[in-house]
Amino acid sequence: MTPDIAIHRARRSHLLETLGEGVLILATAPEARRNRDAHYPYRFDSHFYYLTAFPEPEAVLVLIAGKRPRQILFCREKNEEREIWDGFRYGPKAAKAAFGFDAAYPYDELDRRLPKLLENQVRLAYAFASVPAWDARIMAWINVVRGKARTGVTAPVNLSDAHALIDPLRLFKDAHEIELMQRAADLSAQAHRDTMRLCKPGMGEGELEAELMRVWRAGGCQAPAYTPIVAGGANACVLHYVANDQPLKAGDLVLIDAAGEYHGYAADITRTFPVNGHFSGAQKEVYAIVLAAQLAAIAAVRPGLDFNAPHAAALRVLTQGLVDLKLLTGEVDGLIEQGAYKPWYMHKTSHWIGLDVHDVGDYKAAGAWRELQPGMTLTVEPGLYLRPADNVPKALWNIGIRIEDDVLVTQAGCHVLTAAAPKSVAEIEAAMHP
Ligand code: GLY
Ligand code: MN
Ligand code: MN
Repeated sequence: MTPDIAIHRARRSHLLETLGEGVLILATAPEARRNRDAHYPYRFDSHFYYLTAFPEPEAVLVLIAGKRPRQILFCREKNEEREIWDGFRYGPKAAKAAFGFDAAYPYDELDRRLPKLLENQVRLAYAFASVPAWDARIMAWINVVRGKARTGVTAPVNLSDAHALIDPLRLFKDAHEIELMQRAADLSAQAHRDTMRLCKPGMGEGELEAELMRVWRAGGCQAPAYTPIVAGGANACVLHYVANDQPLKAGDLVLIDAAGEYHGYAADITRTFPVNGHFSGAQKEVYAIVLAAQLAAIAAVRPGLDFNAPHAAALRVLTQGLVDLKLLTGEVDGLIEQGAYKPWYMHKTSHWIGLDVHDVGDYKAAGAWRELQPGMTLTVEPGLYLRPADNVPKALWNIGIRIEDDVLVTQAGCHVLTAAAPKSVAEIEAAMHP
């Protein structure tokens, strides 16, 4: 994708204003070795990408605040030999122009140039206590500057966490981000729809995973947003099941928690459907409870309510449902207060979503849940997991259901980004019998 220079430059300018004075240093993620000389597919650091759109490894952003603010990139040099093996790299000159920097220098010049840039700066912001190698390297630069004390040069004395400055900006998505998130959501919803259509008893969980991946990649996603979960039968009750290597049986449900990443932005969708295309009576009963909980939670996503409101709404419906299923007895308020639902619903209902599937941003401010405001994006994902334990009757064994959508808070309430993924019993059965 062509980088949108103005958007990312404006984000950096905004951050420079927040910084006020001093220097901010932010490195992208390193390449990660998988085994011997094989690497994982490269994924940039989300904070770095938010500010630069620069996709290559071995790159560092340096922002200098003050009267003459400067935006500087360090990146790999052009290298004909390496480019024959590994592909195109921008090099500082082209990167400066393409990504809108005031200056760009070779990555190999970091140790030479950074101490100079830190001279006489009072404040330094970087992502400390995050990557030990960077802590050590930046400490070394500071000590180079301190070594010049007798020449009158001063080193930074105020240290700030760069992530803490950037997280509040990332919590509110701008129009460009929402466009990318909608595309990730649309492709991910399509993948769920196509996978429902494909699913037949006797297929393997892995075949459904392959179909999801086919749709994402064909549509332009670069990668899954997280490791996909394709969990048939009892596997649906294992929250982080990722083996995806078992056969799918008629009569079982299959829970799929999977979504693609589009230019860095994640979707996060869970759908649960019957392997043979028809919900049994018991499955339908539990599904109706989780769906009602999810719709109640979505209705609680609107400005003025707080981050915990969707969770509270979901808990009320789920707990009443557990009473109706005779798994709990008593009065709903008291049961919620005791956490009586926890054997069957042990996770929270929402998390922020964006460049990271579990995106950055505080959930509380001064001890109170954050108020929901337009531009925030979060998931809504209640579930029930009925293992053969905790006095669950046999008819309900191994029913594991989660329904997850991604929502954008708007002025009027919210917009469900992932609405195109079939969700009601009727929509799912129609998608499975086109
Ligand atoms: N797929 C990760 C989550 O739902 O939080
Ligand atoms: Mn989620
Ligand atoms: Mn999920």
